[in-house]
Amino acid sequence: MTTSSVYVHLQRPDNGEWVTVGRFTLDRLDGNQGLASGSFRYAPSYLDAGYTWVIDPVNLGSLDKVPYQATRYNGLTDVLRDIAPDSWGKFLLQKEHNLSNFAHEFDYLQCSGNTDRWGALVIGLSKKPSSSNIASPRMPKLPDVIEELQLMSNQLPAKHVEIRKRLMKTLSSGGARPKTTVQDGEVFWLVKPTISSDTSNVALLEHACMQMGLRAQLNMAKTYVHKDDTRTAVLVKRFDRFGNQRHMVLSGASLLQTEYPANTGQKNDNSRWSYPLLAQTMRAIGAPDKDLIELFGRMLFNALIGNDDDHPRNHAVVWNQSEKKWRLSPAFDVVPNMTETPKTLSMQLSQGRWDISNAALFADWKYFGFSSLAQAYQYANELIVKIKTGSLFLEETGLFSDDAELIRLRIQDMAQKII
Ligand SMILES: Nc1ncnc2c1ncn2[C@@H]1O[C@H](COP(=O)(O)OP(=O)(O)OP(=O)(O)O)[C@@H](O)[C@H]1O
Ligand SMILES: [Mg+2]
Repeated sequence: MTTSSVYVHLQRPDNGEWVTVGRFTLDRLDGNQGLASGSFRYAPSYLDAGYTWVIDPVNLGSLDKVPYQATRYNGLTDVLRDIAPDSWGKFLLQKEHNLSNFAHEFDYLQCSGNTDRWGALVIGLSKKPSSSNIASPRMPKLPDVIEELQLMSNQLPAKHVEIRKRLMKTLSSGGARPKTTVQDGEVFWLVKPTISSDTSNVALLEHACMQMGLRAQLNMAKTYVHKDDTRTAVLVKRFDRFGNQRHMVLSGASLLQTEYPANTGQKNDNSRWSYPLLAQTMRAIGAPDKDLIELFGRMLFNALIGNDDDHPRNHAVVWNQSEKKWRLSPAFDVVPNMTETPKTLSMQLSQGRWDISNAALFADWKYFGFSSLAQAYQYANELIVKIKTGSLFLEETGLFSDDAELIRLRIQDMAQKII
């Protein structure tokens, strides 16, 4: 058996200082294709100092000396899986670090840099958080960054060598699509370009739908589009950092105590992918009713526009230090399926039901912060009107008119089906 461990550092939400919050240890069985077991323990120094921030209120909920055994991701603790790369980062890291097909999630966590990590956690081999690990990125030239991301996604050599080097050091971002972060003053933007294998202009679509959601008064992450002769990218404002402060976050996957995505070669178990379950979990960790209603609104929005990529890692909560509460994060990665009109969502709309229908949408209304079914209907009706109005402005966001028309027709059809 081989044992490895890392310290986990947290940027304090109150004064921005870095503290060691705990330690993660992984035991791997030799020669057993990476089979492993892992655990996280809050640091005695963290407990002795009397800090009260739990880094995952669902899976690491009490500030205890006892180690928490990780039950998913072959032994990687959920909140650490949240700050490790998904397929985009893994694809590049595997080549760069010569990782085997059996490389553990922990290997990817370790070889992706801390600079762009999601949320307020970083990892390190030293008990003392190292400032070089936690330096903020500078704002590079956006068009060159986009071009370099496009080259990387096509596995082509670097054109902007310095940018490529930096991108290769910051591969911790989640998600499947090429992306990186650029800084503009105090604000950090996630940059997601359209790539050559896309069958539609995904960047434009994402921006257009986020704007439509905003017009309907949903809480969407702010976006804008960079477009020049050869490149398009959507820029999404990061909600997990501002200036030098990083904010604690937790993915929907961790909240729902489910794995996403499943290990290579294994089928996703979607039994816990559920909006009402997410709403109940959010209530249990103290999120206000307002956020549960917002979640219902997002479910309805996804159903209307046909965003069936609403998987558990496309939802999150973020710690609000002034309220001392976990709050639903702004919506992100909201993109309609342009190949076919989906009949189901990734998440259950009500217990056991993934289908986009009136019965599925309203069956579990009571978990979403409404006081009656009538109130849920009223909210849905009002939201649909706002979304329809918002859809009249799709072309104004730069979306091509055939895409805009398809989305408008879909919203009309779906609204009729749902209400
Ligand atoms: N506005 C944001 N602020 C902070 N973090 C974000 C934001 N948008 C996305 N993220 C984080 O980055 C990850 C990847 O982003 P996103 O989901 O947009 O990428 P993607 O490659 O399109 O994902 P997918 O694989 O779901 O298609 C998310 O899972 C989330 O952890
Ligand atoms: Mg995503």
